[in-house]
Amino acid sequence: MSSVRIGILTVSDRASRGEYEDRSGPAIRVYLEQALENGWDALARVVPDERHMIEEALIGLADDEGCCLVLTTGGTGPAPRDVTPEATAAVCERVFDGFGERMRAVSVHKVPTAILSRQMAGSRGRCLIVNLPGSPKAIAECLDAVFPAIPYCIELMEGPRLPAKEGRAWFPPHRKT
Ligand code: MTE
Repeated sequence: MSSVRIGILTVSDRASRGEYEDRSGPAIRVYLEQALENGWDALARVVPDERHMIEEALIGLADDEGCCLVLTTGGTGPAPRDVTPEATAAVCERVFDGFGERMRAVSVHKVPTAILSRQMAGSRGRCLIVNLPGSPKAIAECLDAVFPAIPYCIELMEGPRLPAKEGRAWFPPHRKT
């Protein structure tokens, strides 16, 4: 196992019951494979839309597995069982508003219903947690909007260096190497 560990948490009642195949978690992994060089490991989990189970999975990935990044997918909308943002807020010490703001700002130009996603991001210790909507198409659109900010964010949080491919990470001009 590499020291760079990334958690992928699919939140879905039906995928967790095996009623359909999880396509969202694998879509996140494919995105990461395209954005990062080798030298990281993915830890994938699937949980139902139950707040305590989402919180438990996030805490396990951040604290026990030592992930520097956890990407969640699903459960961000307005339906009563959409509780991923609440679970994320409950386990994070700090909220990074810019991620949700930018994902919605970019996404509404692609699909007006993006306004419905309550996705957020925050940190638990040295782990950055970012919510993504459930559909694979939305995952790619949202990661295109915020993924380049993630390597520098993790660096500032004193986490490991993500092996971002050329052009896949934003760093400020004054950053020391
Ligand atoms: N964001 C992007 N970029 N593309 C999309 O297609 N779908 C929206 C929204 N955000 C969408 C998007 C829709 S229709 C919903 S209901 C919400 O995300 C919440 O999705 P979730 O409950 O699967 O998390």
